[in-house]
Amino acid sequence: MILTGAGISAESGLSTFRGPDGLWAGERVESVATPEGFAADPARVQRFYNRLRGQLGEVHPNPAHEALARLECHLGSRMLLVTQNIDDLHQRAGSTRLTAMHGELKKIRHVETGEVLDWPYDVKESETVWRPHVVWFGERTIGLDVVMEKLTAASVFAAVGTSGTVYPASRFAEIAKAAGAVTVEINLNATGSVGYDYAWVGPASQLVPELVDQIITTGSITSGSRQTGHRLMAD
Ligand SMILES: NC(=O)c1ccc[n+]([C@@H]2O[C@H](COP(=O)([O-])OP(=O)(O)OC[C@H]3O[C@@H](n4cnc5c(N)ncnc54)[C@H](O)[C@@H]3O)[C@@H](O)[C@H]2O)c1
Repeated sequence: MILTGAGISAESGLSTFRGPDGLWAGERVESVATPEGFAADPARVQRFYNRLRGQLGEVHPNPAHEALARLECHLGSRMLLVTQNIDDLHQRAGSTRLTAMHGELKKIRHVETGEVLDWPYDVKESETVWRPHVVWFGERTIGLDVVMEKLTAASVFAAVGTSGTVYPASRFAEIAKAAGAVTVEINLNATGSVGYDYAWVGPASQLVPELVDQIITTGSITSGSRQTGHRLMAD
């Protein structure tokens, strides 16, 4: 299982979640990523997600997204890609077996019926019945049951570009490790989580292709040249 977060799309030009002062792309997280924020000011929320949706046309998948699509070609149904991202860069790189656990920017959802529509367009700022199909704070993660089942059966768990601060993904490494998986994180800065056997520190665009090559060649993760030296579990 591979879990990705905002860091994998950073080199494509999309900002990560928490910038200075808890801002996401210039807005307070509470204003644009909570049901309360939508109730208080739907126009502001629609405008924010219209802007993010618009940005997708200006960015492209990077070598990290492409490498994970290559891994899927190799492993087929033996691989599950789980992303916390709401952008469409994995899909555009060619990944098809994908769980978008925090929703998708290019979809909208009816607030009463729950119906979901593909919607790559702007939404009217006056719209209050159709909301972004994005999981906000306090809402239920999409596809969690299947993810939990696969986590406990995984032989390898890799997390790419995620700070590990957003529940429940923050627990995945520990769960997979306890069930016997080899676990690794790829991040510009190691998170230091005890759930990881290995931390590969550096940019995803460079390290994910190396990780994919290693999995394809050896079937697992070994220490590798980029290990930081804090293998936490004895061989
Ligand atoms: N692209 C997107 O779709 C997008 C962007 C921002 C936020 N979000 C949402 O915000 C939530 C944020 O949680 P999160 O943990 O995914 O993100 P986060 O912003 O909390 O953490 C990003 C992590 O990526 C690392 N990072 C940054 N650039 C990197 C690079 N080039 N290579 C490797 N690592 C890099 C950072 O050190 C950090 O640990 C997500 O669940 C998602 O719903 C999505």
